[in-house]
Amino acid sequence: MTNTQTLANAKRNKIQSDDLAIHNWYQFILGYPPHLVREYIERFDLADDNIILDPFCGTGTTPVEAVKNGISCFGLEANPIAVLASKVKTHAAYDPQMLREYLAWIYCSMKASYQYHGIPEPQEDLFTYETELTQLTIKHEMNLSEQQKKVIPTGFISPKPLQKVLIVREIVRNISEPVARDFFLIALATFIVKEAGNIRFGPEIGRTKPKVDIESIRTFANIAERMIADVEKTSFLKQAQIISGDAREVDKYLPRNLDARINAIITSPPYPNEKDYTRSTRLESVLLDFIRDKKDLRAIKNRLLRSNSRNVFVADTDSQYIQEFSRITAIADEIEKRRLELKKTSGFEKHYNKIVLHYFGGMYRHFKTLKPFLAPNCKLAYVVGDQMSFFRVHIPTAELLAEIADSLGYKVNAIELWRTRTATATKMQIDENVLILENK
Ligand SMILES: C[S@@+](CC[C@H](N)C(=O)[O-])C[C@H]1O[C@@H](n2cnc3c(N)ncnc32)[C@H](O)[C@@H]1O
Repeated sequence: MTNTQTLANAKRNKIQSDDLAIHNWYQFILGYPPHLVREYIERFDLADDNIILDPFCGTGTTPVEAVKNGISCFGLEANPIAVLASKVKTHAAYDPQMLREYLAWIYCSMKASYQYHGIPEPQEDLFTYETELTQLTIKHEMNLSEQQKKVIPTGFISPKPLQKVLIVREIVRNISEPVARDFFLIALATFIVKEAGNIRFGPEIGRTKPKVDIESIRTFANIAERMIADVEKTSFLKQAQIISGDAREVDKYLPRNLDARINAIITSPPYPNEKDYTRSTRLESVLLDFIRDKKDLRAIKNRLLRSNSRNVFVADTDSQYIQEFSRITAIADEIEKRRLELKKTSGFEKHYNKIVLHYFGGMYRHFKTLKPFLAPNCKLAYVVGDQMSFFRVHIPTAELLAEIADSLGYKVNAIELWRTRTATATKMQIDENVLILENK
């Protein structure tokens, strides 16, 4: 691959500077860019009385872009922190005045609470905010429970930044207005990922050098101020509805009055590889109390499509749906054969072949339960990458999903190359495609 091609690839998936507003609030590194959504809105010739669904909506790229372009949208997502991010990003009627008032209150309450606990900031904060709301001083000690500490990977946050985050969380929780409370919780999630935690994405989540302390008052206010400025310059012409649920059982979560009414799907499900979405969102999920112990973590994993060896369970049965798909079962057999040849014996590696079967079985359930909600000629775009994470066996994800969709009565229109990516395991270039389907 030439340098020019590599650059073109990087640019293709990069969020454009005009698109940063709203989209760059709490965001997944693994998401696709807003211009991809626009491209398919245009190509599918969607009109303003149409409805889009993103059944794996993550942090909301499709819903935000849909409503910005005047099209109603439903989003379905299984990871609670992503559900909250999508809801907050697509809320249509913020009152910036009210948000500023609360921000000033949070700011003054942080100062008062830090002072009470004798917590210094590395730099003197010279700014002041005026507010008529009575500031809150958090007086009790804030700590994570032992159960919570167990689910945060070692070293992801240092003690002083943690203490500061927990105080801000307590202040934000005291906001009585739910819309404003959720808004500042997402500002806090962004603050945790970008400032407080010792984490980086590349694209896997990793640990950085520990930050002994952080400047938090001004930094948190900056993040929230930028978000409020985005609210002021953006108007949504339509509503999005974000639903917490499992896309393998669309029929359980979408309202029945949506029967045969969805005109387009623009989405990107997880790919069968070793990326654990609950790990890349773990720190903020625990600090915002979406995960209080191992049981909560497992419950979240249980709702996700099986795509990595950390979320495969003994009771899983999704594989039963694809037993007739010989290309898929052959890939699973090849992975197991390579494992035995390579004498790999860890529990995780023993799961590799099962992940492939459960993954495609889960997608089978998704396509099947989705179909009744699609309008005649509904167009579907699934962004999916080929994979080589399991002993370098090539998984042509889009082709295999096309076979499944075809068997369920969808028309396969095309598999289009979106970009190539470097496979982590082999450093080889592999395709990321858009599978285009149509409801027959
Ligand atoms: C590739 S990401 C989507 C990123 C998204 N396009 C964005 O812009 O943020 C895949 C998403 O699917 C979600 N997911 C995985 N299994 C799911 C399931 N069974 N039902 C609903 N969502 C699921 C993951 O939590 C993750 O947020």
